[in-house]
Amino acid sequence: VSEVRRAMTGIRPTGDLTIANYLGAMKPIADMQETYGGDISIFVADLHGLTDQEPDVVNVHRLGTGRSLIAAGVNPERSTIYLQSELKAPTEGVASILDRHTTVAELLRIPTLKEKIRHGMGPESASAALLRYPILMAADIIVQDATDVPVGEDQRPHIEFARDVTDRFNSEYGDTFVKPTMMTAVPEGLRILALNGHGKMSKSVPNSAIFLNDPPSEVDQKIKRAATANPGAMTDVLESHFTLTEALCKTQEDIKILEGLKTAHLDGGKVMHGFKTFMAAMVNSFLEDFQERYYNISDREVVRTLTEGSDRAAERANQVLHRAERAMGHVSLRDYLN
Ligand code: TRP
Repeated sequence: VSEVRRAMTGIRPTGDLTIANYLGAMKPIADMQETYGGDISIFVADLHGLTDQEPDVVNVHRLGTGRSLIAAGVNPERSTIYLQSELKAPTEGVASILDRHTTVAELLRIPTLKEKIRHGMGPESASAALLRYPILMAADIIVQDATDVPVGEDQRPHIEFARDVTDRFNSEYGDTFVKPTMMTAVPEGLRILALNGHGKMSKSVPNSAIFLNDPPSEVDQKIKRAATANPGAMTDVLESHFTLTEALCKTQEDIKILEGLKTAHLDGGKVMHGFKTFMAAMVNSFLEDFQERYYNISDREVVRTLTEGSDRAAERANQVLHRAERAMGHVSLRDYLN
């Protein structure tokens, strides 16, 4: 087990990505490339997508997700971008090994599943794939010997599970798996709400989300309808609009203008119309650049990037699987002769 630092994370190809996905997941990884002293990998979690989606849906979105990562500034020369299903055999091999060190009760306690059960999904309707989601995710992490996993706060229970199961395996069979640490890559205070202020911005409420492929006219309409606050008052949703806009400002001048608008608003001025115009301008200017990069990346380039990345990641994954099998003494027939 080596001293090299290795960060890795996954993103599910669930559909059209929003600007909140960009600011909360993709940009932080792109920024990390400047600051992190180690390897960085990011993969498109298409096998995880299959837990609750049909394969044709996942197939459509997985290339788009890879393309968005590249457009967001994840540089294939600096980072490894790969597709989870290209490492299917070693990942599932390690996942089955982890099965032996996991109890059903433990999986049922993981909040993401408990939440679903609370919302009416019982053992009668929940699939084993959903139950095993944390096992597959732990295997993703383990097969890359990852030391750091940058994820959002909602993923903490999954990382805790990965750490626990690593400890259990290692104490049974000796130091084999690298124990990962959760890394908060998302900037403090970055909480992007739906434009109507009801919950987080999510693709499931499309009118209240800005998508990375929205045209300017759509963005203008959505922002025009967005919730704000009375002069002098600060609300969660307005705070979120300010955060979003600030994150997209390209120049110090833009930031100054934004601060001016905020001060005027807090002083009781009627600036919400002007603010929305400014917000829409910042969003559209960002989207114009993003979409230009996105549409200039060919299918061929996305496929080549994912293939090369997957080859590298698969090599490591196979090594980790074999390391685990050797540790367990579960060797192949051929090893009897060597
Ligand atoms: N569960 C993560 C999410 O929904 C995606 C994911 C799958 C992941 N495997 C991973 C993240 C491994 C980090 C490491 O966002």
